[in-house]
Amino acid sequence: MTKLDPWGDVEVTDYEATMEQFGIEPIEEVVDRLPDNRLVRRGLVFGHRDLDTVLDARDDGEPFAVMTGIMPSGVFHFGHRTVVEQILLFQEMGAEVTLCAADIESYATRDVSLEEARELVVEEYLLNYVALGLDLDATDFYFQSGAGNDHHVRSKLFARHVTQNEFEATYGSADPGKLVSALTQYADILRPQSPDRVGPKPTVVPVGIDQDPHVRLTRDVAARYRDAGYVKPASTYHRFMRGLQGGKMSSSDPKSHIALTDSVADAKRKIDEAKTGGRVSVEEHRREGGNVEEDMVFELLAYHLVEHDDELDRIREEYESGEMLSGELKQIGKERLETFLRDHQRRREEARPKVEAYLDEHTAVGASN
Ligand code: TRP
Repeated sequence: MTKLDPWGDVEVTDYEATMEQFGIEPIEEVVDRLPDNRLVRRGLVFGHRDLDTVLDARDDGEPFAVMTGIMPSGVFHFGHRTVVEQILLFQEMGAEVTLCAADIESYATRDVSLEEARELVVEEYLLNYVALGLDLDATDFYFQSGAGNDHHVRSKLFARHVTQNEFEATYGSADPGKLVSALTQYADILRPQSPDRVGPKPTVVPVGIDQDPHVRLTRDVAARYRDAGYVKPASTYHRFMRGLQGGKMSSSDPKSHIALTDSVADAKRKIDEAKTGGRVSVEEHRREGGNVEEDMVFELLAYHLVEHDDELDRIREEYESGEMLSGELKQIGKERLETFLRDHQRRREEARPKVEAYLDEHTAVGASN
C-alpha cells in the first residue's frame, strides 16, 4: 500500500498498484482524444480522473480550464518541467489557465516567509514558466496571500463539507497548518469555477501523485457544496523523475537534479557523475549491452531532451546492443543539455521585464489586502 502525504516524502514504486488503490484511471483510455504529445507517448503522464469531462467540453466548444499550483520552496529543476508542459498542452487545446503560488502553504508548512516566497516564485517559477512558453497575459496567476476575500471566504465555508475523520484518514493528521493549506487548496482548485470566472466548468488539475489526496477531497467538497453547482475537478498525474544518482530527485540535493538555472559546466559535471546502466568493463558492456531502465542519463533524454521517437529508439537500440558506451550516451546528454540550457536561460532573461510588469499590475501579496 502506498501512502500519499502531500507534505511528506512520497516514493511510488509501483504506479499501477497505486492507481488501483486510489481509483486513478490509466491515461491510455483517453490517449486518442489528446493531441500527440511526448509526455503521454513516453508514459510520463500515466493517469487521470474524469479527464473526459474536459475533453467533452473541448469537443462541444464549451469553456474549460486548467489549474495548478506551485509551492515556493526551492529551485526549479527538470522534474518540475512536466507540469508546465501539461499546462501548455491544455492551453493549446483552448483551456483558460489559472496558476497559484502557494505562499500561504509554504509559510504555514515550510517556514518560508511571504517575502522569500515571492522571491522564489519570481526567480524559480514565473521566469522559468514564461521561458518555457506560458502566456502570462492569458493566465490568472495569483499568490494565495493575495487571492482576495471571496477566495478565502470560500475556503472557510468548505470547512463544513469535510469531517475530521476524513481529514485524518486522508492526510494522517489534522495539524492547523495542514488544515489551512488544504482548505485553501480546495479553493484554488475550484477557482476557475467561481462566479467571477463565470461559474462552473470542467477543470483539469495536472499534479504529481503526492497531491492526489487534495484532488480527492476537493472532488468530495465540490459535490457536497451544492449551491455552487461545481463540476468535480478532473486531474492528470505524472511520474516523478528519478534523481541523477538513482533514488529520489529532490530540490534540496543539487546532485540529484539539474536546475534550469544551472550553469552549463555544473550541468555537465552532474551528467558525468550520474548513475548509468553501463556494465563494469567495456568488454562486458559490448557483450551484455547497457541497461536503459537503470540509466539516469537515458531517463533525462527520454523525458526531456529527445523529441522524436525514432531518434530515441535508435539511441536505445545502440545502447542496449552494446554498440554505444555509457560515456557516449553521456556525451549526447551533455550536448543536448548545453543547447537546451543556453536557449532556456536566454529566454529567461528576455522574460524578466514582462514578469515584473505583470506582477506590478496584477498581484498582491500579504495580509494587507
Ligand atoms: N500543494 C501544492 C504543492 O505542494 C501547491 C498547490 C497549491 C496546488 N494549490 C494548488 C497544486 C492547487 C495544485 C492545485 O506543490
